[in-house]
Amino acid sequence: MGNNIVIAIDGYSSCGKSTLAKALAKNLHFIYIDSGAMYRAVTLYFLRNDIDLKDHEQIIAALHNIHLNFHSRDYQTHISLNDEEVSDEIRQMPVSENVSTVAALHDVRIEMVKQQQRMGRSKNIVMDGRDIGTIVFPHAQVKLFMTADPLVRAKRRFMELSPKNPDITLEQVFDNLAHRDYQDTTREESPLIRAHDAIILDNTNLTPAEQLAFAIGKVKPFLK
Ligand code: CDP
Repeated sequence: MGNNIVIAIDGYSSCGKSTLAKALAKNLHFIYIDSGAMYRAVTLYFLRNDIDLKDHEQIIAALHNIHLNFHSRDYQTHISLNDEEVSDEIRQMPVSENVSTVAALHDVRIEMVKQQQRMGRSKNIVMDGRDIGTIVFPHAQVKLFMTADPLVRAKRRFMELSPKNPDITLEQVFDNLAHRDYQDTTREESPLIRAHDAIILDNTNLTPAEQLAFAIGKVKPFLK
């Protein structure tokens, strides 16, 4: 790693990683990279093209045909899949219900991690995900491991999704988060686990401003 600073944020589904990551990026003028959006976009492509998840050749061919790009506007995640903006579609339930299965595939992880490492090679970045502090950037200067009460997490995600999805229920969202956490923590390849040197941040009772202040306190020593 060069002189650039990497902040790695890992944790369970919907526990505020991206809210914190965006706020940090904005405050510190770092680049924000949402690694989950990459796995979600790959999942969308696999669903649309009916990729057989047991067929290694098909997966490799599909990965060759997938071109992902981030456009930073207002520190929000704008991701395109082969030049089509898919930022909204990747948050919908069909993708949420399949993403942890796709993200467990070896071929998919190898390709995504390669792209993520390239993005963090020379720039100051904040990246959030599941394996950022363990696999993608094991030498990140600051590692945070976020957690929060499962019901609080489900309520937050439900509030985010329900305006555009009037039929969605809190139970559906709760079950999806629980199921993804189970898949993410028990998979063989790069499971979600706290890096030994990651700082735990439980934000069940913290406001966004409070969690930002906590995180900035951890990054400060590395800023020149
Ligand atoms: O925003 P939310 O917490 O719901 O999830 P996300 O960050 O968008 O990630 C979606 C899914 O992608 C996760 O449940 C993981 O299965 C997978 N993922 C991963 O395996 N590794 C990462 N670095 C990021 C996400």
